[in-house]
Amino acid sequence: MGEKIRLDKLLSNMGKGSRSEMKDALRFGQVKVNGTVVRSGKDKIDAEKDLVTYRGEPVIYKKFLYLIMNKPQGVISATEDNHHKTVIDLIGEEYKHYELFPVGRLDIDTEGLLIITNDGELTHNLLAPKKHVPKTYFAKVEGRVTDKDIAAFSKGITLDDGYLCKPAELEIGIQTGNTTEVVLTIHEGKFHQVKRMFESAGKRVVYLKRIKMNALELDPSIALGQYRELTEEEFDLLTEGVLE
Ligand code: URA
Repeated sequence: MGEKIRLDKLLSNMGKGSRSEMKDALRFGQVKVNGTVVRSGKDKIDAEKDLVTYRGEPVIYKKFLYLIMNKPQGVISATEDNHHKTVIDLIGEEYKHYELFPVGRLDIDTEGLLIITNDGELTHNLLAPKKHVPKTYFAKVEGRVTDKDIAAFSKGITLDDGYLCKPAELEIGIQTGNTTEVVLTIHEGKFHQVKRMFESAGKRVVYLKRIKMNALELDPSIALGQYRELTEEEFDLLTEGVLE
């Protein structure tokens, strides 16, 4: 048997309107359960088995929502903030009834892949230190990044507070003037970790973008500040090896 949920809650949670609007819709006979008009929002239905329609259209119950965002600079990875816009402020009305939060944090000046969901258990699993979920970043670094840095990152960089980072994979890309483009994969998520790793190596990150989380890559067709629901394949890539 599936989850039992009050009919008025299901309707308003699926974005059909407020609880009081749903009360009216029910009163006017606009809601059917398995083909029969139901007028009480208090009735509980089985979200998996019962077919609910509102004005003739099926209402599909989704408990969890998974969005992939290309986070822009200037917004905070939080649900609320007194001074800045948050990533949740960028989410449209149609998703607002889910109680969404970002999975982990990107700095205000970091761009890129951010998962936004209301699934606390998955979030916990993706962020749990013992899961070592890999995260890959593209960065522009002031200074010349060399093979010596690759070796140091693969052995484990020591941060300013004495923390010894887990081995990280550093690849060197294009070098222009005094700036080097790199791709770095880390297996943990300390505060400002990528910037601090490069600081320990005597270099400064001037641009940072997350491009991958676990096996899920950022879809380059998602513009900065835009988002969409994850596909099933993308959900599987995100959660590969994480849920068991
Ligand atoms: N490392 C950082 O320094 N900043 C981020 O936003 C993410 C990883």
